[in-house]
Amino acid sequence: MSTAAPVAPARALAPLLPLAVLGHDVRVPLATGGETTYAALDYAASAPALRRVWDDVAAYAPYYGSVHRGAGHLSQLSTRLFEDARATVARFLGCRPGDQVVFTRSTTDSLNLLAGALPRGCQVFVFETEHHAALLPWRGHGTVCLPAPRSHEQAVRTLDEALADRDRTRPALVCVTGASNVTGELWPVSALASVAHAHGARIVLDAAQLAPHRAVDITALDVDWVAFSGHKLYAPFGSGVLAGRADWLAEAEPYLAGGGASRQVVTREGGGGLDVVWHDGAARHEAGSPNVIGAHAIASACTALTEAGFDALAEREDALVRRVADGLAAVPGVRVLSLFGPGAPRVGVLSFVVAGWSGGRLAAALSAEYGIGVRDGLFCAHPLVRALVDGAAGECGGDAPSGAVRVSFGVGTPDEHVQRFVRAVGELVRRGARLDYVVEDGHWRPARGRG
Ligand code: ALA
Repeated sequence: MSTAAPVAPARALAPLLPLAVLGHDVRVPLATGGETTYAALDYAASAPALRRVWDDVAAYAPYYGSVHRGAGHLSQLSTRLFEDARATVARFLGCRPGDQVVFTRSTTDSLNLLAGALPRGCQVFVFETEHHAALLPWRGHGTVCLPAPRSHEQAVRTLDEALADRDRTRPALVCVTGASNVTGELWPVSALASVAHAHGARIVLDAAQLAPHRAVDITALDVDWVAFSGHKLYAPFGSGVLAGRADWLAEAEPYLAGGGASRQVVTREGGGGLDVVWHDGAARHEAGSPNVIGAHAIASACTALTEAGFDALAEREDALVRRVADGLAAVPGVRVLSLFGPGAPRVGVLSFVVAGWSGGRLAAALSAEYGIGVRDGLFCAHPLVRALVDGAAGECGGDAPSGAVRVSFGVGTPDEHVQRFVRAVGELVRRGARLDYVVEDGHWRPARGRG
């Protein structure tokens, strides 16, 4: 049979999308012959750019100039745009008076910035289920790694018990995800925040996977900081955000030493070194020329998502999640990974294993034979995936999977992409791949000259 999926003309799909993204009509070759429209189903790694974001960046590009360091008209305009972007992000996140929005490079960068600003002796509490970006920056801070909970109630209880046992003379920080990058499952953020505060701890929310799918309100959730990335929020121009309480950031050494962070630098008399007065506020942690295009792109995405309305976006995404979950449930040997059990609310992110299939081989076949882009492996969340996949291997039998396959989607995903994905997994599992696959340079690829 032909593996070139019969797709509707790409342009006809655009009106079906809540928000248009770039790349929805890109054609890719199939290893089985012919070509098809690329189905981008790896939003959890990097989402495509919103058309609106791209247009806003293009409209600004001729006016590009230096930020906070020029007297010229375009420099002033760019400075205003950068500060307007900060205000837009603050509104998007429902920031409190006095909260600070710092532009960073990514969620990883944001959490590393916060790790560098922890008060002396601060202890950090984190579940082992976190993405490495939320798990690793705290090493060296007496991190308490909490075991994977199997329900929201257990997560709250585990944190409560761990914080009750802590040394109250030390400051404490809890770091928690809003939605898992592996299972897509939502975490009970506001309940965890209440427990943290009841024990005198602070809490930072890793919203990398939550912010593209649900409204994140720092005040309503009562978290102390929120971190997210532009490239998962349809704004792939190299910026991220850390927003929240100003005090720890104000007392910390600048994240990077350099221009922009320094208010005054003088040479000590007699050549004995330098005296530096650092800026307060966000500038303290934004040394170097700021990424004004990245910040503008994030602000544009925040505005577009807010105008589209998260309730409407989530309703459509829930329908896609159900379609994928039901489709995978009908395929023999498939197990969808979950911490909190079937039916637990999740964003458009699902990982699964298939008995007898390596995750890498299945992902390679989805790409080579169907033009579908997914991610496979351990998703930078090794402890979580290892725990879930080991269980799955024992249960499903067959080859021990080397990792899982993850499908993820969002506002720009046409129905056809998830339909093609479900059909492709069913066909590959039931009748096998059409091609042979081999591992080359650590990646599964179609074997050359065989099929
Ligand atoms: N954090 C991204 C992911 O989960 C890269 O794929």
